[in-house]
Amino acid sequence: MTSSKPAVSLDTLVALCKRRGFIFQTAEIYGGLTGLYDFGHLGVLLKENIRHAWKQSLYNDKGEIFFLDGSVIGPEAMWVASGHVEHFHDPMVDCMECKHRFRADHIDLNKACPNCGKTAWTPVRAFNMMFKTQVGAAEALSNTAYLRPETAQSIFVNFKNVMTTCRAKLPFGIAQIGKAFRNEITPKQFLFRMREFEQMELEWFCKPEDSNDMFAFWRKKRLDFYYTLGLDKEKLRLRPHEKDELSHYSSQTDDVEYHFPFGWKELEGIAHRGSFDLSQHTKHSGKDLSVYDEETKTSFTPEVIESSVGSDRLLLTILFDSYREDEVAGETRTYFAFAPHIAPIKAAFLPLSKKLEEPMRAIYEDVRKKIAHVQFDVAGSIGKRYRRQDEIGTPLCFTFDFDSTENGTVTVRHRDSTKQERIAIDAIVPYIQELLEQSTR
Ligand code: GAP
Repeated sequence: MTSSKPAVSLDTLVALCKRRGFIFQTAEIYGGLTGLYDFGHLGVLLKENIRHAWKQSLYNDKGEIFFLDGSVIGPEAMWVASGHVEHFHDPMVDCMECKHRFRADHIDLNKACPNCGKTAWTPVRAFNMMFKTQVGAAEALSNTAYLRPETAQSIFVNFKNVMTTCRAKLPFGIAQIGKAFRNEITPKQFLFRMREFEQMELEWFCKPEDSNDMFAFWRKKRLDFYYTLGLDKEKLRLRPHEKDELSHYSSQTDDVEYHFPFGWKELEGIAHRGSFDLSQHTKHSGKDLSVYDEETKTSFTPEVIESSVGSDRLLLTILFDSYREDEVAGETRTYFAFAPHIAPIKAAFLPLSKKLEEPMRAIYEDVRKKIAHVQFDVAGSIGKRYRRQDEIGTPLCFTFDFDSTENGTVTVRHRDSTKQERIAIDAIVPYIQELLEQSTR
């Protein structure tokens, strides 16, 4: 049996995600809202596993990691200090003929409109991507607030709180997983560019003289993370930003890029933010965010190395990378070859016939007390049930047949090879645990 890794089209993936309950369009029954998606049961489990793997990947022998969960709404003053009110713009252009709107840096303005074929562009304007809101009932200017376009700023403004309460010593990291909001001009490619998405960000605080070494350390460590997720190494690369690409806060940035069907694109940004953010918040808030060095008896502002990846974009990457097609029993089968620790469902329990439902259900009930996400399925032929589990990327299927009552064994079938073997019923839990452990090594 040969399995292939076809470049699955975005439409196929979107349809599969909907059909199997991973991801739905937000408010679909009302026509949906562009750039917004809801996660169904399997999507939630998959994302949860991604978050967990990301958190685990941060631990290192250089310093501690502490966690934060900041508010999504922040006062205007904070976003002025961070530079987002002034700089967080994308260039926007409209076609005067068909009224289509584009990111000016995503199209060639010397050519005709890709939508209607006419050449009638408006001048390029800067569009601020932050969602503005008003906090409280009174519409005073001082009540202006913004939904955060990155989670990083709540880390910077809480730097002293975390450092003091956790008695942290440099270098150390503050990590956060949370929602970010950007009023993208042209949200597209499903989860790739959304208007509401989740970020997983680490801000690593260190002494200025160590920052270049730390940047090199995190570049390597972050790439290793994607290898442990089982992503195709040939489709991953680190790309340094050109000077004119750098964000307003960064002196050096490398993107981890993945080769999507629509080209090499950013998956994660690793940025040397220097002391920009802590200095800006010190200046604008009047609160000292420097650190006192006992050895030199001087104060200094720590520098920051940032690692920032969208959980949704990583989830999309994993879907693309894991999609497989092969032929089983003369039929085309599609499956997700998820690494077992990332797979939403770890194992399925399938009685061969309805008559065997009761003893298999008893085994399933026992296993699910120890392994969180397993499924029981009795409906349809065994071939169909295997196919259903393959399609959602379940690594193992256990089948209870007529021999099982006699000899206390079940068959276990492996998703990728479809190979089967018999194991003792008592060995099921350690068998799954071993597979999960191997997968994180
Ligand atoms: N704090 C730095 C920062 O926010 P960024 O490159 O703008 O940097 C970091 O975003 C990551 O967040 C990206 O690499 C991507 O994975 C994710 N991301 C950014 N915009 C996104 C969007 N509109 N939809 C989905 N994910 C997005």
